Amino acid sequence: MPDGSTTSNSSLGDQDFRDFAHIGPDKLAGRFLRKFWQPVLPGDELLSGTPKRIQLLGEYFTAYRGEDGVAHIVEDRCPHRQTMLSLGWIEGDCIRCFYHGWMFSPDGKCVDMPAENDAFRDKVTIHGYPTREYLGLIFAYFGEGDAPEFPLYPEVDPEKDTVFYTKHPVPCNFFQRIENDLDEVHLNFVHQVGTHEIGMVDIPEISVVETEYGILRKGRRSGEGNNVDRTGRIFMPNTMMVITPGSARRPEWMLHLAWRVPVTDELMASFIVTTRKGGGGGIQPRAHSDPDPMYYTEEILAGRMRVQDIDPDYPSLFNVQDNVALAGQGAIVDRSKERLGQSDKGVILMRKLWEREMRAIAEGRPIKAWRRPVEDLLEYGSREVELAGS
Ligand code: FES
Ligand SMILES: [Fe+2]
Repeated sequence: MPDGSTTSNSSLGDQDFRDFAHIGPDKLAGRFLRKFWQPVLPGDELLSGTPKRIQLLGEYFTAYRGEDGVAHIVEDRCPHRQTMLSLGWIEGDCIRCFYHGWMFSPDGKCVDMPAENDAFRDKVTIHGYPTREYLGLIFAYFGEGDAPEFPLYPEVDPEKDTVFYTKHPVPCNFFQRIENDLDEVHLNFVHQVGTHEIGMVDIPEISVVETEYGILRKGRRSGEGNNVDRTGRIFMPNTMMVITPGSARRPEWMLHLAWRVPVTDELMASFIVTTRKGGGGGIQPRAHSDPDPMYYTEEILAGRMRVQDIDPDYPSLFNVQDNVALAGQGAIVDRSKERLGQSDKGVILMRKLWEREMRAIAEGRPIKAWRRPVEDLLEYGSREVELAGS
């Protein structure tokens, strides 16, 4: 539904404005997410000449690269007899259906219909979604109307830095993963193997503030050694940027960008771009861990092993630790049973912002013009606090 359009909200109650979990195209949370560019798949998973069926936001889509290598995202099924377009062939920048050869351009026009006349061909279209490849990931815009400006991250410089990209599943609803991004206290427990090792020991004092782009959160600690304040930035609606301190094993500080994207209501994917400043290694896929983190996740959730049994040097340990804590809440957590405390103020603020925006969408009002500053936020410092509430 476009901004400014109206929808009857007579059947919507307060519960609906707090339903962050259901993300289909007709749900308020789904409509909010679709107003922003979303990562769809890592670039190295889309090979030239091999279209791919992908699931995202509770729907299926077709991804392919044209003969020039440019990535495109279009509808899942052919409008003729509904077979999957991902079975088809690539010709130029178009995709031709496997079943009866209808061919579509990236913007969704039908450009060839071998067994039909041109007048019929000109009446048939599919959705072609604005698509862009950036920092190793393929992004698309699935909302109505023109796509918003594509948000760039000047904190990452692929010319000078070493940039690793990856995607991993988390077997629960995406909003639990977003809430975890506002939860600095969990580091001391879920990730205690890592945080204790680097000497980040204090339970942090949490502060959160709304900014022009989302939320600036700080976890204040004593400041001794690695026991430092940690700053996280949440770009609405579902992206986090944070720096993690180095450790004995890996001394460099790393910058993490993470997009938390629903696959279905009960499964989400984290798209991660990890940057080591300097090094000039360019953009590259991150090596997969063996065994796969989902193997450990499933074994632990089934009670056949414990997190503590995993080798502390396992490269995806943080991923498994978060996976089991979040999936342990249930595929969709029952928020009516929670008891939130003062350290949950980030979670509370995030829910408040989403609820405010979902209410605006339901009532046909524009949402806040969320805008990430063009400046490098790591050098931006206190201006973020000044901008709070803007
Ligand atoms: S189903 Fe695609 S051309 Fe017939
Ligand atoms: Fe975590």
